[in-house]
Amino acid sequence: MKVAVIGANGQLGNDLVEVFKEDSSFEVVPLTHKDLDVTIPDTLGILRELKPDVIINTAAYVRVDDSELYPEKAFHVNAIGALNIARVASEINAVNVYISTDYVFDGAKGEPYNEEDNPNPINVYGLSKYAGEIFTRNYSKKYYIVRVASLYGKAGARGKGGNFVDFMVQKARNGEEIKVVDDMFMSPTYTKDVARTLKKFLELNPVFGIYHMVNEGLCSWYEFAKAIFEILEWKVEVKPIKSNELKRLAKRPRFSALKNKKLEALGLKMRHWREALREYFEKR
Ligand SMILES: NC(=O)c1ccc[n+]([C@@H]2O[C@H](COP(=O)([O-])OP(=O)(O)OC[C@H]3O[C@@H](n4cnc5c(N)ncnc54)[C@H](OP(=O)(O)O)[C@@H]3O)[C@@H](O)[C@H]2O)c1
Repeated sequence: MKVAVIGANGQLGNDLVEVFKEDSSFEVVPLTHKDLDVTIPDTLGILRELKPDVIINTAAYVRVDDSELYPEKAFHVNAIGALNIARVASEINAVNVYISTDYVFDGAKGEPYNEEDNPNPINVYGLSKYAGEIFTRNYSKKYYIVRVASLYGKAGARGKGGNFVDFMVQKARNGEEIKVVDDMFMSPTYTKDVARTLKKFLELNPVFGIYHMVNEGLCSWYEFAKAIFEILEWKVEVKPIKSNELKRLAKRPRFSALKNKKLEALGLKMRHWREALREYFEKR
């Protein structure tokens, strides 16, 4: 199976390339922003030449607050980019995998969202990703929409200049005061685990559609920060604060944990986020 990974030097893309490379039944082709730009159809000829069986599109504008200021940027990459990739994927008969987000949900459910729940994004980033999902669904012959959440991986999010785990570690090293919200709940997810699961998933050739792919369990950002220092065995004080104390531009769902309902029905189980977090530190 020939797999083209778009955004190959991104946080998730980096682990996808590594994991697919380890398995000789896959031929992985890493594509970075230098190789193609999802917003510029003229640059997508490389996909027509490569003719991959699967395209994994991780390219995104991931800056949630900046998306409020520059909605056209978010929509350009996350939605129009998805449309462009869906068109090419259909043309070359490739399976189109669009990586999406828990931020398509509004957070009002108060319990983990499954694939049957209706999206209702409350910020520009979430809406642009939801538009990307709709383009993917309606313009691809064969597609998977894979929703992930609160990612951390060794490459760090390029668009954010790192990930939450590394930011916490850096703050502690600098001796800064650490305050983290305890009223926002989510599914912290290790990019290596997404990559491993996505590989197994593609091997199973499941029916096309939407799938959630996050580590098991959920927690508040405060609990997550505390777990980081527990695993590291560092004595660091983490102060709980409320989200309204952070003056952020974008509204965020209070509860965006996901449930991998359809993945589990396929027999694919992802481990608990604490176990994954432990491996993240062991590997570093
Ligand atoms: N990070 C999270 O917590 C999180 C949570 C939920 C969902 N997601 C989704 O997961 C996916 C991966 O996120 P990530 O954390 O790996 O982000 P990332 O590290 O910022 O990776 C995004 C990649 O996309 C590339 N890219 C950006 N614009 C592009 C364009 N116009 N054409 C081609 N490539 C472009 C970037 O390259 P350059 O930097 O060189 O532009 C980068 O390699 C995204 O779809 C995101 O929406 C992320």
